[in-house]
Amino acid sequence: MKVAVVLGTSKQDGNTRKLVDEFVQLSGATLLDLTDFDISFYDYSHENRDDHFIPLIKTLTDYEHIVFASPVYWYSMSAQLKVFFDRLSDLLTIEKALGRELKGKSMSVLSTGYNQEVPSCFIEPFQLTAEYLHLTFKGCEYLAIRDNADLARLPVVATKGLQNLC
Ligand SMILES: Cc1cc2nc3c(=O)[nH]c(=O)nc-3n(C[C@H](O)[C@H](O)[C@H](O)COP(=O)(O)O)c2cc1C
Repeated sequence: MKVAVVLGTSKQDGNTRKLVDEFVQLSGATLLDLTDFDISFYDYSHENRDDHFIPLIKTLTDYEHIVFASPVYWYSMSAQLKVFFDRLSDLLTIEKALGRELKGKSMSVLSTGYNQEVPSCFIEPFQLTAEYLHLTFKGCEYLAIRDNADLARLPVVATKGLQNLC
């Protein structure tokens, strides 16, 4: 299965990137780090239609499964990923045909945070967005990271991600 990972984090070599790197190594997935893309906030006038959002979606249409990777920041996805999710509205307005190309794919979430449990309010926007866009939601693998012992569990969680999410 062709898998792409869309990573949104404020720390390019941080915990979430480390989890993603393990996952990519195991799965052979393609990593797309939102830091490398110029994607601006949703614009009702679509004056940002020529930024990197539409080319990124066109890239994603080549994959069967999309993993969204984000740390938990204030119970939510990262701002980088939220801007990307807001821009999905372009696929309901100016790029409907392109949006339809996403139908039938599957998606999942990889995440890290400080608290032992990932809050349900973190997962719900991914799950509900998948339902809205007719993608199959395969779930979320999460690693709570407080110290080096937790970091040692990165390969375990990446393996679970590969087994359970794709
Ligand atoms: C702005 C900010 C907000 C955070 N909010 C939460 C939170 O709500 N719940 C949680 O468990 N951890 C929270 N954390 C901790 C991070 O999720 C955690 O350290 C994560 O592994 C960082 O990943 P990163 O290195 O990719 O940024 C927060 C960290 C930051 C910087």
